[in-house]
Amino acid sequence: MTMNLIEVKENVFHLHNGLISYILSVENGGLLAHLYFGKYVNQYHGERHYPRMDRSHSGNLPGATDRLFSKDTLLQEYSGNNTGDNRLPACVIRTANGARTVDFRYVGYQIINGKPNISGLPHAYVENDQEAQTLVVTMRDATIDAKLVLYYTIYRDRPVITRHVELKNESSSSFSIEKIASMQMDLPKQNLDVISLPGSYARERQIERQPLRRGLTQFESQRGSSSHHMNPFVALVAPNTNEFDGEALGVMLVYSGNHQMSLESDQVHQTRLMAGISDYNFDWQLAEGATFAAPEVLMTYTDHGLNGMSQAFHSLLRERVATSKHKLTDRPIVINNWEATYFDFNTAKLKQIIDSAASCNIEMFVLDDGWFGHRDNDKTSLGDWFVNTKKLPGGLEEVADYTHDKGMQFGLWFEPECISEDSDLYRQHPDYVLGVPNRGRTISRDEYVLDFSRPEVVDNIYQQMTKILDHVSVDYIKWDFNRNLTEVFSNTVTPEHEGETTHRYVLGLYSLMEKLTKRYPDILFEGCSGGGGRFDAGIMYYMPQSWPSDNNDPIERLKIQYGTSLAYPISAITAHVGTSPDELLGRYTSMDMRGAVAASGTLGYELDTSKLAKEDTDKIREQVSFYKQHRHLIQYGNFYRLESPFESNHVAWMFVSPDQNEVLLFNFVVLSQIQNDFHLTKLIGLDANKQYTDTESQMQFGGDELMNVGLYDQPIQSSDFSADIRYFIVKNK
Ligand code: GLA
Repeated sequence: MTMNLIEVKENVFHLHNGLISYILSVENGGLLAHLYFGKYVNQYHGERHYPRMDRSHSGNLPGATDRLFSKDTLLQEYSGNNTGDNRLPACVIRTANGARTVDFRYVGYQIINGKPNISGLPHAYVENDQEAQTLVVTMRDATIDAKLVLYYTIYRDRPVITRHVELKNESSSSFSIEKIASMQMDLPKQNLDVISLPGSYARERQIERQPLRRGLTQFESQRGSSSHHMNPFVALVAPNTNEFDGEALGVMLVYSGNHQMSLESDQVHQTRLMAGISDYNFDWQLAEGATFAAPEVLMTYTDHGLNGMSQAFHSLLRERVATSKHKLTDRPIVINNWEATYFDFNTAKLKQIIDSAASCNIEMFVLDDGWFGHRDNDKTSLGDWFVNTKKLPGGLEEVADYTHDKGMQFGLWFEPECISEDSDLYRQHPDYVLGVPNRGRTISRDEYVLDFSRPEVVDNIYQQMTKILDHVSVDYIKWDFNRNLTEVFSNTVTPEHEGETTHRYVLGLYSLMEKLTKRYPDILFEGCSGGGGRFDAGIMYYMPQSWPSDNNDPIERLKIQYGTSLAYPISAITAHVGTSPDELLGRYTSMDMRGAVAASGTLGYELDTSKLAKEDTDKIREQVSFYKQHRHLIQYGNFYRLESPFESNHVAWMFVSPDQNEVLLFNFVVLSQIQNDFHLTKLIGLDANKQYTDTESQMQFGGDELMNVGLYDQPIQSSDFSADIRYFIVKNK
């Protein structure tokens, strides 16, 4: 018989699976208390109730007979508002009388096998009901007549808990949700660092780590998308946690819109952690009888350091969040014409690129921006998804057929959510655009955003896209989004619903992604947003890979890919070899360096192969053949970060096959040094008892030798921006 994953004893719920334990309980007055999330506890006897103490200025529950118990300090699972807990609220509801007062109390629970879906939102899933169990806790605010349902899923074989909440209005009038977090967890006093992934356009997901101090620390996007600027991910770690050892609690939101991760350290150094949709410009009218589902949060716990945390997210995201049939397939090596031609192309020019790419054994040609409407620059034609016959007189079909005849796949770029003022769509439907009446609209990259909160707008784009996709044989779509939301206002709703528009936009976006990915299951979709402006688990549910940055410079990419890998798997991180000097930075780097960095992700090319010198195309051929040999290991092996570009001139990472018989080690040196120190690398994640052969030197090493003794780098680097790749295999398995 399979082990039960959830035990309930005297109002204490213990979710456990041999790797982790998550414990919560029903406290005085039916408050839901957080007891523990961490390493698996075998012998738990139901204790760790919150200590009692009379704390001045922290009030007691209505009708309390002593002063020993206060909501204001209790470690909770989900707080209300304006009822005696003066810390950050998880939920704020405004009722018709103007009160913003919420007080949820425990009603009951249910345990279900498997994991329920969340309608209209991406989420982690199970393939069968044995894989996980879900604790469903119901709470209620009796005055408002609102039911809050908290979902906790524990997977049998993963150090993962997923959480989300649903709020149902059971009263006879509507109320307004001003804030609704997806999860809250209050942690007892301890020293903690928080790691986040802030950035900007072309500098996405730069790792930052800071000690938590009292007060509020918040990581948020108010841009309508998950954003370049702050990824919907944080890790809470012990001060001594490093890549290999120490405790790490990772939190990731499965959502692509405005988000908010909050950490509040209270008067007695307890930490309240919350994650969910941002309350910025958010105000949701919940009609009587209606339910609001908040997006899901994925939480991992490990005591194997940051690599342990990342690996838990990597396998969860690629195996149980990504839904595409390509989620575990070897991804094709792409050539993309964007940086080769920008808008300046025609069929003949594309054919030249396709020919040269085919001769380099590249597997897919992606036609980027500029193939539709009369788009010769970025000021026009978004929204007009029909072919630009001036540039491509034979239509997309000619390019697609030509590509296929060369034995390559064909991919196409869209930016479905945006619109140019110079477009037929704008001329026909100016009201389709997000904007506030009688106000100018912020223009960004010369484009506006369509009001995807309106189903008819989404449907218009759906119809246009299916018209193309039903007629042209497309194997891949790059889904771009090149600006943020501003002047958020929908033209068709009554004023009290305007605060719903940003979230409804995301729901509209997901509905389009759902319909298209279902209708064209064979197409490989790649997310993109001006580079990596929407690299999140919500997009990954529909699209198993995303473009992490427009920055192709390999030195900057070391940081971007290293940072992205903290949360997201390598199969999801596309990486292209660009030109030298680099288009954005002007930095000169060797083809070897560019190739090694790009081959550390899902490899592609973004340059005009038809114009390269023979020595460069020879190099590309070598890189392509290397990548084909190793791509499964790179895309789906266990990835370990060894040395960080944020801390060192020397960067290293490695890939180990699940059976531990294959190892690929990448070392990079940013700036060469005179009289440099000898650099030693110690590998990790090998089988200590196996013999590994370095395939270049044919030297043998024990697994424990490589992990404990380590090896010196070869060759000693004598130029800036250099890379070295070593491949070890176990010969006699
Ligand atoms: C964005 C993308 C690029 C490219 C351009 C096209 O910037 O990130 O890769 O597709 O748009 O306009």
